[in-house]
Amino acid sequence: MIDKFTTDKTAELVIEGQKYSLPIIEGSEGEKAIDIRNLRQDTGYITLDKGYMNTGSCTSGITYLDGAKGILSYRGYSIEDLAENCSFVEVAYLLLHGHLPTDDEYQHFSYLLGRFALIHEDMIHFFDHFPPNAAPMAILSSMVNSLSNFYPEMTENPLEDIDIMATRLISKVRTIAAFTYKKSMGSPLVYPRHDLSYCANFLNMMFDSPVKPYAINDDVVRALNKILILHADHEQNCSTSTVRLVGSARVNLYASISAGISALWGPLHGGANQAVVEMLEDIYESDGDYQNYINRAKDPSDPFRLVGFGHRVYKSHDPRSRIIKAACDEVLDTLKVSDPLLDIAKELEEVTLNDEFFIERNLYPNVDFYSGIIYRAIGIPSNMFTVMFALGRLPGWIAQWKEMWDDPDWRIGRPRQIYIGPKRRPLTPKEERKKRESDT
Ligand code: SDX
Repeated sequence: MIDKFTTDKTAELVIEGQKYSLPIIEGSEGEKAIDIRNLRQDTGYITLDKGYMNTGSCTSGITYLDGAKGILSYRGYSIEDLAENCSFVEVAYLLLHGHLPTDDEYQHFSYLLGRFALIHEDMIHFFDHFPPNAAPMAILSSMVNSLSNFYPEMTENPLEDIDIMATRLISKVRTIAAFTYKKSMGSPLVYPRHDLSYCANFLNMMFDSPVKPYAINDDVVRALNKILILHADHEQNCSTSTVRLVGSARVNLYASISAGISALWGPLHGGANQAVVEMLEDIYESDGDYQNYINRAKDPSDPFRLVGFGHRVYKSHDPRSRIIKAACDEVLDTLKVSDPLLDIAKELEEVTLNDEFFIERNLYPNVDFYSGIIYRAIGIPSNMFTVMFALGRLPGWIAQWKEMWDDPDWRIGRPRQIYIGPKRRPLTPKEERKKRESDT
């Protein structure tokens, strides 16, 4: 698959007077890479790149990012077009199959999502044994991993039918998320309904109650579709790379996704959306004094990062943040609510846009900066925000996992290292070890 994109250009490398020519690869949108697949066997050298800042782990036809221009597209379609014109289910299908569904394909995919909406009744008892304040992401990760026990056939023949595998997981994770919330509230579970769309069903499972029926608001359903689409994939981010690495050992889909959920939980990654709202609430309680946070973010001796700002790839703006910011105004207007946190968020963005520290480091609001405002307006509690991120990212994870399994060039992921520990040394018998040996 890679060799189709190998150009006739090469990069010249000179090591200890020896010249090496390394092939140049050019992707379909013009990204360029030096192919170092034979570097170690040809030169005895490896590369070192902590955090993989400059390292491509794979070729992929799913998502394209241009960090300098703030471009994001799924299978060639711009995120702006998809967010404005599609449903989350259509985009999930697009990510998995590489094309938008025909009406028949959409109907079948939606039928499968409905068919797989329940979880095994035995799994529901799992909720009774989590502590009351259990973290929803920990529940989600363990429940998803447990799914492989209830559907062993998915382990035996993982690629039997990707539509069944994907819809089973996309539908059940939605149910697990809603049940997690209901259990945390001590409320009766609301089961999925066959007559509701994916997002409407989720909202109904979250907020319907025997004593207060939930009135489904089409504008809120539209906003939820949009926000899930914006989260649906993002090339080789930390959690997607985790799904690929775990899956590369031929681990089943559910266990691979469970690992991705754990990675997403991190406050530097998907956990940031919850941290943003906690920061905004803190600023609100200190009468809008965000200066303290700005000062801490700029203080090199303070590890604090202004959550919701900055991105490894986007160095101009995160296109998703702009779309979510606009959706915030629409949702709050629809629901006739005003949220002082939105005003604080906008003010914080305005200040950073004119602050040299943030400008020099290309720090702009990312996808996590405004998303929590919408979730709050819908009634979703902040400890469920990262679960919402996982709900959105799920089709992308599955598509990336499958792309890797389908890749004829695929190898188990096994990075190398440069050892900097003690040189090899003889062992001193215990009885002769009168004093602590040096650690270096
Ligand atoms: C997501 O990868 C993806 O695609 C992720 C994601 C997806 O869809 O999967 O987009 C989702 O995870 C979004 C990011 C959410 N995380 C946060 O909002 C946490 C706050 N952000 C930072 O921790 C940081 O910006 C990262 C983790 C997002 C990116 O970190 P990098 O690329 O390693 O950046 P860096 O540490 O090299 O920073 C460069 C400079 C440093 O300053 P100097 O040492 O050069 O002086 O910018 C500074 C950093 O200290 N910096 C920040 C900052 N982010 C970077 N300073 C203050 N506040 C911040 N938020």
